[in-house]
Amino acid sequence: MRLGVLTSGGDCPGLNAVIRAVVRKVERDLDGTVIGFRDGYLGLMEDRYEVLTVDRCRGILPRGGTILGTSRHQPYGVDGGVDMVRRTVAKRGLDGLVVIGGNGSLGAGRDLQDDGVPVVGVPKTIDNDLGCTEVTFGFDTAVTTATEAIDRLHTTAESHDRVMLVEVMGRHVGHIATWSGIAGGASMILVPEEPFDLDEVCAALVRRHESGRFASIVVVAEGAVPVEGTFTLPDPGIDEFGHQRLGGIAHLLAPEIAARTGFDTKVVVLGYLQRGGTPTPADRVLATRFGVAAAEAASDGDWGTMVAIRAGRIIRVPLTEAVAEPKVVAPDIHDVGKIFFA
Ligand code: F6P
Repeated sequence: MRLGVLTSGGDCPGLNAVIRAVVRKVERDLDGTVIGFRDGYLGLMEDRYEVLTVDRCRGILPRGGTILGTSRHQPYGVDGGVDMVRRTVAKRGLDGLVVIGGNGSLGAGRDLQDDGVPVVGVPKTIDNDLGCTEVTFGFDTAVTTATEAIDRLHTTAESHDRVMLVEVMGRHVGHIATWSGIAGGASMILVPEEPFDLDEVCAALVRRHESGRFASIVVVAEGAVPVEGTFTLPDPGIDEFGHQRLGGIAHLLAPEIAARTGFDTKVVVLGYLQRGGTPTPADRVLATRFGVAAAEAASDGDWGTMVAIRAGRIIRVPLTEAVAEPKVVAPDIHDVGKIFFA
């Protein structure tokens, strides 16, 4: 078997663990060869690659980022992109591709599959918003990083009797905000799934301070939105890949909270810290299981599927179903967080 592998979209702790597992399984158990394309779909279109071996993958398990590089470019965003992909796949004699990516990248993978290029998907994103899998690798690491930051912010916020707004990633969903907020004992968690009323947020913070429990940590997902008519966020614009620009909501909310409550309000945007660095043991194991399972799916010829985890077991699901709808935070988890709100 000859398999191509690529990492696409935002980087994520555990990408190298997946690559290493695919290579190990294919080289040692399936007597095949793995070719790694540089910079996601861009390298696939441009036929930029390296042959990946078990030796080449030594030492990469605990490393964050991706040894292959990544990008947000996709064949469907480039004139003739799909033909370029077909040419590379034929030229390199590949049976198919393992695409390690999030919603957008696996959506392109599904379209390639429909257009005759065999694809197996591996669900990657710190946001944990992919459907059909209980969790994506990278999420546990991001939550761990965010929780550590919140733990540290408690002591400084308490010392100065401040409101501390901690902004975490999550453009359509609030999984990181909810999990790190609960784990870090947040006074409030604002997520895209449940629009917030800023007056209610401020009233709760005032009640908390008046009751003598000083300092508040408010965890806000970058994609959180106010209830219509209660507070207006400026239009952030669109980036070159058609995604809404995000990151910065905490800076917009802080002066408003300060003005409405009179509390000293500070902001910490965790940003790319959540994506960088070494994966947690849980993410290393999940990524490794996904990599082995993806190689097996390819070897079985089960193209058009994504590997996933459900009730602790690795399964295969149709790519089409996986990318149909983002997975939102289950209301019962968010409700648990609310018990501890301000
Ligand atoms: O990996 C997903 C994500 O972390 C989003 O939460 C965030 O909005 C986005 O990536 C930002 O990534 P970039 O700036 O690299 O496009």
